[in-house]
Amino acid sequence: MLSSEKFIKISLEINLFFQRIIKEHLFFIEASLQPVQPALISEVKELKLNFEKLLEQTVFLANGIITKNAFEANEFVTPYTLKAEELNSKLTGTSINTGITKSELGLINAKDHDYDARLENKVWNLNNKSINALKEVIAYQKKLIDLVSKCKVFITLYHEMLEHINRESEYYLKLLHSLQMKRDIRKPLCEGLNFWNNIMNEHAEFINGMLDPTEKDLKKATETIAEEFEILVKNCIISAKKDILQKSITSTKNIKNFKKKATEGLLACEIKSIIPPLLADHVFREANHYLRILMALD
Ligand SMILES: [Fe+2]
Ligand SMILES: [Fe+2]
Repeated sequence: MLSSEKFIKISLEINLFFQRIIKEHLFFIEASLQPVQPALISEVKELKLNFEKLLEQTVFLANGIITKNAFEANEFVTPYTLKAEELNSKLTGTSINTGITKSELGLINAKDHDYDARLENKVWNLNNKSINALKEVIAYQKKLIDLVSKCKVFITLYHEMLEHINRESEYYLKLLHSLQMKRDIRKPLCEGLNFWNNIMNEHAEFINGMLDPTEKDLKKATETIAEEFEILVKNCIISAKKDILQKSITSTKNIKNFKKKATEGLLACEIKSIIPPLLADHVFREANHYLRILMALD
């Protein structure tokens, strides 16, 4: 059973991380649908705006509450996020509320705070609103996956990426349900590790597939990284906890550095690819988030 303070802090951290992740998934979908699908585009735009509103509320509530650790992990926003948003929005003509990012960059560190029932109630309501909005997002994503798999809709995102995005949404939904029941959100070792190791494996594969064929060295690097995570998923055994944890930490640090350099390279127009710069920053943040979870287990 989580204490009031833990419930408030963990909820705000989870929402700060995932609400941005969700709204970016929706941005990527919006920017990748074809003009022949105006209804699907306006629906996804609406869902994105819902999550932008939720994230705005979370940022407001989180001021002075979120922990220094979470802050420094670069999982909510990174030094590249704002620039990537501005560039991606300009290049696609798809809107992004960059004001939220600016306020997030101005968030102050945790200070003495009153974790009273009023605040707890506000956070509980925020989680609840997120659950409802997320259910709509998942229903939309499932509908889109179905249409794409029947070749009724063409989208410039891999089918596997749509599935991946939806898996992240469902994972977040489960976390929110646990939080609302004041349950600890930590997963059994291999369940937690396999979810994220699989996600990291897929990131490496997506990057590989979206790099220009001439970027041979970068492509080779992503193949090696993807293979490392694939082996980790296959070999997760609870009895070898220390070993699997250490290997996951090493591989996640590797992919994190790779993604950091890729984000810098894309923003500086030094890499040939069809990777949106914001997607590079997005997967960089996901690695940072996972790394923080891993370090807490070590
Ligand atoms: Fe994601
Ligand atoms: Fe991801």
